[in-house]
Amino acid sequence: MNILAPSILSADFNCLGEDIRKVEEAGVKWLHIDVMDGSFVPSISYGMPVIASIRKHTELFFDVHLMVEEPGRYIQDFKNCGADQLIVHAEACKHLDSTLRLIKKAGMRAGVALNPATPLSVLEYVLPLVDMVLIMTVNPGFGGQTYIETCTEKVRKLKKMVTEAGLDVDIQVDGGINRQTLPTVLDAGANIIVAGSSVFGGNIQENARELMTMMGESGIK
Ligand code: DX5
Ligand code: ZN
Repeated sequence: MNILAPSILSADFNCLGEDIRKVEEAGVKWLHIDVMDGSFVPSISYGMPVIASIRKHTELFFDVHLMVEEPGRYIQDFKNCGADQLIVHAEACKHLDSTLRLIKKAGMRAGVALNPATPLSVLEYVLPLVDMVLIMTVNPGFGGQTYIETCTEKVRKLKKMVTEAGLDVDIQVDGGINRQTLPTVLDAGANIIVAGSSVFGGNIQENARELMTMMGESGIK
């Protein structure tokens, strides 16, 4: 199933609740929430208090992307504030296997993210543990960057790897996805599409509906 996951990093934080209500009304089902620690990535975004606050006002699926060193330290905190899925970076975990198992044990879906330069081989022994793999299509840290073309081949290879292993693992892409790059990643095998500036820049509802239509996601609640 194809799913659009708008990234609130590009929302207007002065009216965050209103922006979330707009994507929800457009029929979006997932919200992508980028948490940055200023160490794994240069920037700092937002964390538990913001997530707990928006959780009170929406039923959307919370897809939480942790750009954080040793995210295993915060699994229960993110569960408590309402995360439905936690994505950790392979590059940020000393004990990736254990971190993924702890996320599952806490009752959330587990995702593993790979930076553009990280090879797919790091997934070899953890693929059966995860619900989703996030292929970063920009270097993480900021919204509004340009899609890195070499990532298309990486998505294609991952799709083959998942199919050959006979696993049911979603493939997410994140960074530089817009009307131009969306067809490319869908064709390569991605099915969960993060979009920040291409949803929240301009008319939010029109943008969300148009991207969902291109993906064959109905938007019907
Ligand atoms: C970047 C974040 C992305 C970001 C994407 O590090 O992980 O989720 O919000 O923004 P766009 O879609 O504008 O590239
Ligand atoms: Zn993200």
